[in-house]
Amino acid sequence: MQDILDEICATMNDRSERGQVANYIPQLACVDPNQFGISVALPDGQVFSAGDANTLFSIQSISKLFTLTIALGKLGDAVWSRVGREPSGDPFNSIVQLEHESGKPRNPFINAGAIAIVDSIMMGHQPKETLAEILQFVRFIANDNSIGIDEKVAQSELLTGDRNASLAHFMASFGRFKNPVDCVLGTYFHHCSISMSCQQLAQAGLFLVSDGVNSSTGIRVVSAQRARRINSLMLMCGHYDGSGEFAYRVGLPGKSGVGGGILAVAPGKASIAVWSPGLDSIGNSKLGTEALELLVQHTGWSVF
Ligand code: DON
Repeated sequence: MQDILDEICATMNDRSERGQVANYIPQLACVDPNQFGISVALPDGQVFSAGDANTLFSIQSISKLFTLTIALGKLGDAVWSRVGREPSGDPFNSIVQLEHESGKPRNPFINAGAIAIVDSIMMGHQPKETLAEILQFVRFIANDNSIGIDEKVAQSELLTGDRNASLAHFMASFGRFKNPVDCVLGTYFHHCSISMSCQQLAQAGLFLVSDGVNSSTGIRVVSAQRARRINSLMLMCGHYDGSGEFAYRVGLPGKSGVGGGILAVAPGKASIAVWSPGLDSIGNSKLGTEALELLVQHTGWSVF
């Protein structure tokens, strides 16, 4: 495995076309695009890494996977009254479907869906308390208490978050929100601003590899059925309007973020985190996708 990762890393380091860093969040626009990291965590507890796998980056929308898991734990199937389970076929920050679909987002991974998920888990609590709960969960599944939030990124999102504010207020106009919109948005911006390394993220994904059990700690996080369902949502919706392309090229459930990270799950085989800040036109890591494509070619880990 180490040889494969070293080879992929060398190939990626030679690439001159690296995509564009997200510039609509000014703090993310400052990140050096010449970085690449990859980590593979195996169910037996071994972790293999190459490149900048210990560098912290903004996990952004990958955090939506964690808030969805928390919401399912708290609310069970009632989550599906707040968000759907269908790919949207529209960009991650699109508002268009909300008007025709009673303010109910298509899935929990587009921005509107993730904001609705935050409202569902707040349950009248303060943003601080909800954030503490989210962080505690992420630290638990990654088995790492050092994981935290990059406050500069959160403030940067807050200052430039007009689109997300529009989505939230539009949904609230359908009477869908139970908490003050500003509290929901503040919580959402902060959970998107969690910083993690590829190594930490690969560990955090392990519970989705082994039927809901984090096999490196032996602790069950969710039921086997729930793990399968979360993986199915990642496959269908985890890359927004690029989900079909990602399934075609990589063939694994995956969740991307505009920080350039991707967490991919090969059920029964491995949890893989990859990071390179340059994005394709849809907002998914360009080299991250290419690296996963190569990894799957080497390992045969595609679910298809
Ligand atoms: O709300 C936003 O736009 C960001 N915090 C998250 C978007 C994102 O990561 C989309 N991913 N590819």
